[in-house]
Amino acid sequence: MTAKLAPSILSCRFAELGDEVRRVDAAGAEWIHIDVMDGRFVPNITIGPLVVRAVREVTERVLDVHLMIAHPDRYLDAFAGAGADVITVHAETCQHLHRTLSRIRELGKRAGVALNPATPLSAVEDALDLADLLLVMSVNPGFGGQAFIPASVSKVARARALVGESRRGWVEIEVDGGVSPETAPGLVQAGATVLVAGSAVFGHTDGAAAGLAAIRRSIAP
Ligand code: DX5
Ligand code: ZN
Repeated sequence: MTAKLAPSILSCRFAELGDEVRRVDAAGAEWIHIDVMDGRFVPNITIGPLVVRAVREVTERVLDVHLMIAHPDRYLDAFAGAGADVITVHAETCQHLHRTLSRIRELGKRAGVALNPATPLSAVEDALDLADLLLVMSVNPGFGGQAFIPASVSKVARARALVGESRRGWVEIEVDGGVSPETAPGLVQAGATVLVAGSAVFGHTDGAAAGLAAIRRSIAP
């Protein structure tokens, strides 16, 4: 079993955004992960639809947009219009998760739902039929380069069981935070199908392609 890799541009050199994206595209990254933060739901402020549109212009890879924002419903149309392929909202920010996920699908996009480390899987259980992706946060969202929370591995295994083996490939189990060649194998073993990695890719001393290759080697079947 292996997994798709989704480099998070949060850790790239923003002055060279286009080239950084082209580099990981050329190195075979299946998805490009884009972290949207609003300074409310999380303590950091990052990217808006304009930057998503700019990334869309330089790659045809799946654009995986992770919304760490309050009131995500207000911005779904904007991110869909900017070229997102997957739009993931946090369960903690949605008063009507069922409606929000339905809306993402109505926009013709894949709908994802994310859970903070302290949020139980039961928070999404009754909306899973409307989700194409379940994102297990393995750090508290807000910043790149944080330490991996080891309990995330068993949460991924429980997420896999909840979604069911038969829906593997239909409902992705994504993990985000502290993913590296050390932590990736256990996550894939537990059932993760998409691994997000920021600092392990863009912070690699030999460049992003080497960082991507190191994670890929660590999970080679
Ligand atoms: C954290 C973000 C992550 C972040 C991961 O809030 O959602 O996508 O970029 O960075 P690393 O891989 O460095 O933990
Ligand atoms: Zn993310």
